[in-house]
Amino acid sequence: MILNITKTKIPLITKVFYSSSPKIPINIAEKTISAHNQPTNGVVYDKKPFKFTMQAGKRYSWCLCGRSKTQPFCDGTHRNAQLKIEQKPVTVVVEETKEYWLCNCKQTKHRPFCDGTHKLKEVLDATSIIRQ
Ligand code: FES
Repeated sequence: MILNITKTKIPLITKVFYSSSPKIPINIAEKTISAHNQPTNGVVYDKKPFKFTMQAGKRYSWCLCGRSKTQPFCDGTHRNAQLKIEQKPVTVVVEETKEYWLCNCKQTKHRPFCDGTHKLKEVLDATSIIRQ
C-alpha cells in the first residue's frame, strides 16, 4: 500500500500575538515527560482546534505529527518507517475534568492546547491534511 501524504513543512512559529490574554491550560505531564519539547512541529492537520472533554488524571497521547487518523490523538502512524516522521506523540494529563480546546493545526507553542496559532497567516496559507 502506498500512502500519499503531503510532505508540506512550515517553519516553526516562534511568536503568537493575542488581542487579549487567553488562559492556556496546563499539561501536568510536562513535569515528568519531555515529549512536549520536541524541536519541530508536524504537518497542519486542520486549521481549527478540537473541543474535547478530558478526564482529570487520565493519560492522553496527543498527535504532534499531524498524520493520525484518530485526531487529535495518536494512532501510531508516526511509527511508519516509510513516512520518516520526526515527531512523536505528546503525553497529556490534566488536573481538572472539563472541556479543552486541543490544537489540531499542530503548530501551537503550548502543546497540546490551542493558543490561537491556527489564525496566523503561515498556518492559514499552509496545506492541511483535511482542509485547504
Ligand atoms: S500518529 Fe501523529 S504522533 Fe502518533
